Amino acid sequence: MSARLQKDAVLRQSFAVPVEFPVIFTRGLFDPANPVLLKAVRRMGERRRHRVAVFVDAGVWRAHPALARRIRAYFAAHTGALELVAPPQRVPGGEKAKRDAALVGRLLARFQAWRLCRHSFVVAVGGGAVLDAVGLAAALFHRGLRLIRVPTTVLAQNDVGVGVKNAVNWRGVKNLVGTFSPPFAVLNDSDFLAALPDRDWIGGIAEAFKVALIRDARFFRWLSARASQLRARDRAAMEELIRRCAALHLDHIRGGGDPFETGRARPLDFGHWVAHKLEAMTGFRIGHGQAVAIGLMLDSGYARRKGWLKAAELRAIRSGLLRSGFTLWHPALAARDGRGRLKILRGLEDFREHLGGELWVTYPLGIGRRHEVGEVESACVEECVRALSPGRRASARKAATPRPQQIRSRM
Ligand SMILES: NC(=O)c1ccc[n+]([C@@H]2O[C@H](COP(=O)([O-])OP(=O)(O)OC[C@H]3O[C@@H](n4cnc5c(N)ncnc54)[C@H](O)[C@@H]3O)[C@@H](O)[C@H]2O)c1
Ligand SMILES: [Zn+2]
Repeated sequence: MSARLQKDAVLRQSFAVPVEFPVIFTRGLFDPANPVLLKAVRRMGERRRHRVAVFVDAGVWRAHPALARRIRAYFAAHTGALELVAPPQRVPGGEKAKRDAALVGRLLARFQAWRLCRHSFVVAVGGGAVLDAVGLAAALFHRGLRLIRVPTTVLAQNDVGVGVKNAVNWRGVKNLVGTFSPPFAVLNDSDFLAALPDRDWIGGIAEAFKVALIRDARFFRWLSARASQLRARDRAAMEELIRRCAALHLDHIRGGGDPFETGRARPLDFGHWVAHKLEAMTGFRIGHGQAVAIGLMLDSGYARRKGWLKAAELRAIRSGLLRSGFTLWHPALAARDGRGRLKILRGLEDFREHLGGELWVTYPLGIGRRHEVGEVESACVEECVRALSPGRRASARKAATPRPQQIRSRM
């Protein structure tokens, strides 16, 4: 080898891997007569008998006591094409699934005991947290099993489920450990939504507002017009919300130019620096959707103060979120550290770290459009927090309410 080659030689490598997965909307997924799951497993045209392991969110298991039996009956009815490697397995639901990273280790041990291979399927039935934890284990084992997501909350169906990533929390830091791994298929069964508690029914509406605010003014108007109907659990309206929101997410990931988030900005994280911090500060007692709603409101308030939103637009955002059932305040927003600084501001530092040292925060620029900003003024965030606080709003209302003699003088 010449000395020159040793010093400067560079071999270049470049290839693209096409990513393709269906997102299918159905009802009665585990009814043996419903072909959706079978077709999804066979979508590559392979005719062999497929090995499948099924994991079910404990909350879903509780709400649907007959589910495990129905899943077994489904596989029994298709035994020529599908092999259920073990009875459906229950996994802790909600943030518990992500908080205990040891769960991933336990899942890997099961995969190994069942001798799953890269052609085997893992079906994860559950909310976003279970999809994240089971998805991470599936992505790690043999460098990636085939993951079929069956999201069971609104948020999981319109956001987490159609995305290309997973994560668990690590030493108290949300989503610190995870991978980018597109699923093999996503099967959204709206029958699961009926048993959701109200908190999780409305949770996904916040993500719909998020994506509408930065990408689609028409969808924002649609959401605002149906907010009360959605909150009152109108199933048809919710199914439409989920389809439209999922489509916007898919478009964004496909066309946004950065599906694996290597660039500087994270538009889909609009409102999330606040949300993630609030979740951590409250020990995850606040739901993700509720935290996102507060984050959207705070960052929209910031956008208004900077002139990126009009007053009427801010009012429309507030009204839409309130009528959807969200509370736009949490006492943790006002918590201060020993130096008197708002603790929530630490969320910006976490976000900066997450982005690799440079801060880029997405804000609406009018409803339906967005821009990224490299600096966030703490003093302005302080004002936005004050503006949201119930005490401040009550005194603002009092000040705005004409006194009795003023009313008389107008009559
Ligand atoms: N990977 C991503 O791209 C991504 C994106 C957004 C959010 N997330 C994550 O998703 C998680 C939030 O997900 P979520 O809002 O779906 O909530 P969740 O997964 O925390 O579930 C909330 C609760 O609902 C229960 N549950 C789930 N489905 C049910 C059903 N059909 N009936 C009755 N109970 C049911 C669960 O057991 C749990 O107790 C957070 O951890 C968040 O970080 C991930
Ligand atoms: Zn979110």
